[in-house]
Amino acid sequence: MCGIVGYIGLREAAPIIVEGLKRLEYRGYDSFGVATISGGIELDKHQGRISDSSGSAIRLTGKIGIGHTRWATHGVPNDINAHPHMDCSGRIAVVHNGIIENYAELKRQLISRGHIFRSETDTEVVAHLVEEAYASEKDLLSAVQKVVPMLTGSYALLVIATGEDRIIAARYASPLVLGVGDGEFFAASDMTPVIDHTERAIFLEDGDVASISHEKIDLFHEGKTVQRPLELIDWSGEDTKKGGFPHYMLKEIYEQPQAFYNSVRSVTGEILPASVKNAESVTIIACGSSYNAGLIFKYLLENTCAIPVRLDFASEFKYFPPPVRGLVIGISQSGETADTISALKQAKVHNCTSLAITNVLGSSISRIADFTLFMRAGPEISVAATKSFIAQLAVLMQITSFLRNGEFEDVLRKGHQAIEEVLLMDLSEAVRLCLNARSIFYVGRGPFYPVSLEGSLKMKEISYIHAEGYAAGELKHGPFALLSPETPVVAICMPGETYGVMMSNIKEMKARGAPVIALGEEGDLELSEVVDIFIPLPVTHPFVQVLTSLIILQLLAYYTAVGLNRDVDKPRNLAKSVTVE
Ligand code: G6P
Repeated sequence: MCGIVGYIGLREAAPIIVEGLKRLEYRGYDSFGVATISGGIELDKHQGRISDSSGSAIRLTGKIGIGHTRWATHGVPNDINAHPHMDCSGRIAVVHNGIIENYAELKRQLISRGHIFRSETDTEVVAHLVEEAYASEKDLLSAVQKVVPMLTGSYALLVIATGEDRIIAARYASPLVLGVGDGEFFAASDMTPVIDHTERAIFLEDGDVASISHEKIDLFHEGKTVQRPLELIDWSGEDTKKGGFPHYMLKEIYEQPQAFYNSVRSVTGEILPASVKNAESVTIIACGSSYNAGLIFKYLLENTCAIPVRLDFASEFKYFPPPVRGLVIGISQSGETADTISALKQAKVHNCTSLAITNVLGSSISRIADFTLFMRAGPEISVAATKSFIAQLAVLMQITSFLRNGEFEDVLRKGHQAIEEVLLMDLSEAVRLCLNARSIFYVGRGPFYPVSLEGSLKMKEISYIHAEGYAAGELKHGPFALLSPETPVVAICMPGETYGVMMSNIKEMKARGAPVIALGEEGDLELSEVVDIFIPLPVTHPFVQVLTSLIILQLLAYYTAVGLNRDVDKPRNLAKSVTVE
């Protein structure tokens, strides 16, 4: 995830763009850059945070410009890989948020036609493709319209060119909003950079291309003129900091369809190392939520591929290393967790092949591991892991699918739709029950057991209510002694082999006085009649039900914490990245 800003009007573009990029830093902050038109194109870009630099570091002139704040996905964070990217002639500049999935093939073709690439990014192919199209079309709008059908993946693009008094914008599966001011226009990843200048906005839809000149915006969809409504955005200054959400955590929960979509598509057969494709056994090391993601993977891989998976807390692995062989996978959203790094080094001592799965390009874990798969969640600011967790699952589920010859590819490519569907569910009844709880148990079987571990972790870390995740069958071996009307149980009970025993477990808990909140498949009358609160989930593939039930548990924790007035984004005593053992 990255942030983009464009400006065209009567004022100097660069200072407006720089301020806008500072507002968008939550979307990415490893490098930044701006390009303006002032006769030719002026370009300035740097590694680092735009808010850390002197602010006046960018001194470009011109009343048309585009800018970018980056969260690296292709190519490490450095000055060269920072956006904007230019074509060979230096007459065209492009900023991009998203992932061009077919960039490798496009790049090969462009190089064979003589183009010189400077960066390692996927984005640079767009600059060169527009260069070619511009040579024949002699018009920037037509050139971009010719290029976008060649791209697969996701993109919000802003393109400028010497001699063209306009910005061309295009969007597919990445957000892009146009701000309509008085004699000036803005383009941005969200309203945050725009709201200080205007409240009037046009939200582009997938496949839209816009030509933004000094006078007007012309919108096109598949080559034909379209109209999109002009909307009034009523945001307070506080709202703008978090893209309109009251907390980063909620914003990040809502970014999960995008994080899942991008992360699924980032794992291709081409980049999956042979050691993964041919793995006969897997050892996973991780901490916290990443451990829970590993445990879900263990269930999926063992059940669908019959590949044995061993899972260790990284903090234990280093001091009590088991006799491991074969492939060791370290999972860490930050890539900087001290325990996971030490454990991975330990695994290397045992001559294991190591694979890192992380959200941060260039992070320590990726420098230690033999191979790395990057998930595409974008920066996560709230301490509680949400979208990084879903992105880890996207990568791990894609690996599972590859090991089954792509069996789950279609399901995973559509997974984001079901996630979107459950985001708006009304959980107020369940939240009321949790607000008064002394302690909450979460139970599930199979992959829904680690889902309950993750749900209980979210609840305890942000609401400070004691919560425990259990394999449903284990509750009777001790924890039953704690059940009472103040100890609700959250049970995940999906159709399948364990449905019958889950129902028996739920009845046992109810008989001991515990109110039960159940997550089940919509239309399950048997379950809804037995439990106190029934939360219906869409009928989908079991992999996707893992995702949808997780989203519900994140939201349950979030709204409970809000109800208790907790510091949701910065819970007491916790840190986002734990860099000490
Ligand atoms: C901290 C964070 C957790 C995270 C864990 C592992 O405890 O608060 O949200 O799951 O570290 O972090 P990693 O970056 O290695 O996934």
